[in-house]
Amino acid sequence: DPLTRDEVKNQIRLLCKEKNAVILAHYYQDDLIQDIAHFIGDSLELSRKAAETEAEVILFCGVHFMAETAKIICPDKKVIIPDMDAGCSLADECPEEDFKKFINKYPDHYVISYINCSAAVKAQSDLICTSSNAVDLVKRIPLNIPIIFAPDKNLGRWVEKQSGRKMKLWQGSCMVHETFSEESVIKLKLQHPKAEIIAHPECTDQLLDYSDFIGSTSKLLSHVQISPAEEFIVLTEPGIIHQMRIKEPKKKFFEVLGLDGCSCNSCPYMRLNTAEKVIKSLKELTPEIILDEEVQNKALRPIKKMLSLSK
Ligand code: 13P
Ligand code: SF4
Repeated sequence: DPLTRDEVKNQIRLLCKEKNAVILAHYYQDDLIQDIAHFIGDSLELSRKAAETEAEVILFCGVHFMAETAKIICPDKKVIIPDMDAGCSLADECPEEDFKKFINKYPDHYVISYINCSAAVKAQSDLICTSSNAVDLVKRIPLNIPIIFAPDKNLGRWVEKQSGRKMKLWQGSCMVHETFSEESVIKLKLQHPKAEIIAHPECTDQLLDYSDFIGSTSKLLSHVQISPAEEFIVLTEPGIIHQMRIKEPKKKFFEVLGLDGCSCNSCPYMRLNTAEKVIKSLKELTPEIILDEEVQNKALRPIKKMLSLSK
């Protein structure tokens, strides 16, 4: 017989104790993984948690670049991920060699990279940011210093508007956030005229223009708890809605459909992680994130800088 949800949770918690492991999960994981995790957060909070943990093993339920970041921050810990193929379309759109050529064209520029990139791209950057601190960090750079911002052009454009700074933008984007259909947003707003539209800054500016509130996954979650609105149209990966319903059980949350009316609005990479794979990786302590030492050391500097600037 298949195990019940509670049996799965108990088995995972026991394995964590046995292996001295902590489970960090992103909001885009499926409900069961979020319920099992010791800590759930956005990418900034998850990197902070990685830095703080005393566990010997970090099981990172998220995508590859997030687990890599945890490894860079904690080089002496074992960092494992349930499925090594859990990549990120945005990170893939910024290959390290092309990035090197790009930044070499503008040697006087300060290079800020969004955390959704490979360790090799981080290693070439001056500062890392996430969607929750990007505007604040960009505003701290003196006005006479020109900035390169990579790899997400949608986030970059939004940061430009918020900070009033023009930047050289790498032209990458997230396949999930680009897939939301304008028609679905309009339809939902007509059906629920009092609903607030809330969006992640990786959405296209066309969709961001409709939004009442824009922020990282954690900021969206805190917004629905502060806002007097009772209904929300959510323009980001629907995994976050699980936490929104836990925090605000009386409020209503509507997910926006993908371009062809399908629910292809969930991240195919995030969703590769399953509870079965969590159990397997805890038992075997694989697949493990192993990085080139030089890359790992170089990538630590801009991440440390971010963590110290965004306290
Ligand atoms: P957050 O930084 O808001 O967690 O976003 C991460 C991400 O991958 C969004 O697609
Ligand atoms: Fe990458 Fe987009 Fe998935 Fe976030 S939602 S992990 S940016 S592919």
